[in-house]
Amino acid sequence: MGRKDSSGCCCCCEWLCGCLFSCILSCIFQILCTILVIAALAAFIFWLILRPNEVKFHVTDASLTQFNFTTNNTLHYNLALNVSIRNPNKRIGFYYDTFEANANYQGKRFDTETLTPFYQGHKNTTVVNAVFQGQQLVLLGTDEVSQFDSEKTDGVFGISLKLNLRIRPKLGWIKVWTFKPKVKCDLNVPLKSNGTSSTAFEATKCSYDL
Ligand SMILES: *[C@@H]1O[C@H](CO)[C@@H](O)[C@H](O)[C@H]1NC(C)=O
Ligand SMILES: *[C@@H]1O[C@H](CO)[C@@H](O)[C@H](O)[C@H]1NC(C)=O
Ligand SMILES: *[C@@H]1O[C@H](CO)[C@@H](O)[C@H](O)[C@H]1NC(C)=O
Ligand SMILES: *[C@@H]1O[C@H](CO)[C@@H](O)[C@H](O)[C@H]1NC(C)=O
Ligand SMILES: *[C@@H]1O[C@H](CO)[C@@H](O)[C@H](O)[C@H]1NC(C)=O
Repeated sequence: MGRKDSSGCCCCCEWLCGCLFSCILSCIFQILCTILVIAALAAFIFWLILRPNEVKFHVTDASLTQFNFTTNNTLHYNLALNVSIRNPNKRIGFYYDTFEANANYQGKRFDTETLTPFYQGHKNTTVVNAVFQGQQLVLLGTDEVSQFDSEKTDGVFGISLKLNLRIRPKLGWIKVWTFKPKVKCDLNVPLKSNGTSSTAFEATKCSYDL
């Protein structure tokens, strides 16, 4: 069957091209659908086998023996933290290629420590020790200075620990991608004077900073 109002050849060609085009389109569409379904299935099976669980960070101990702010905007500090890292995964280990710890006070970073890279096996807990000691020029506004004074009176300082990590998961012999999570721990650290503090430090859970 051909159309009456145009020449037979052109009509046929148009019809053929159109048919071919839609045929190719539906073919591509079907291939894409199949690939998508297979990929989703593979991801699901992968997930079933590995059952990835979130690595959890806690600051389990903190010792602050010096934290004073002098009139020339210099912060003198001596802070030691124990960070516990729990890998609950049965089949995944992690290489911590970069482990950078930043100590912040009122949103201002006052020290950075780079810890030695390490490997953490599956179902294991690693405790790392970060020590921040020294002095740093920190510019605080009047509100921040009064906040400092009130915290000094309480004997507890709000210090935030931020971890910049570069982690490589290891699945059996496969070591593929790298990811760079940021971890944030908002701590209330009591100042120790003469070896004792008014309150004890409470272990604090950290969160992922997105
Ligand atoms: C951290 O852990 C070490 C032992 O691993 C311990 O000697 C130290 O007192 C702990 N606390 C702090 C705040 O460093
Ligand atoms: C900071 O305080 C400690 C005692 O907590 C003291 O020994 C030290 O001299 C003080 N430093 C400054 C610069 O005021
Ligand atoms: C700030 O004051 C401390 C002691 O109060 C002193 O050791 C330090 O050298 C001073 N820093 C500057 C830059 O003046
Ligand atoms: C877990 O870590 C400890 C050291 O902290 C190590 O002796 C042990 O072999 C590790 N276990 C696994 C399964 O990697
Ligand atoms: C500091 O502690 C020691 C004993 O630990 C005590 O003899 C001394 O009097 C204390 N000093 C102050 C200023 O409280």
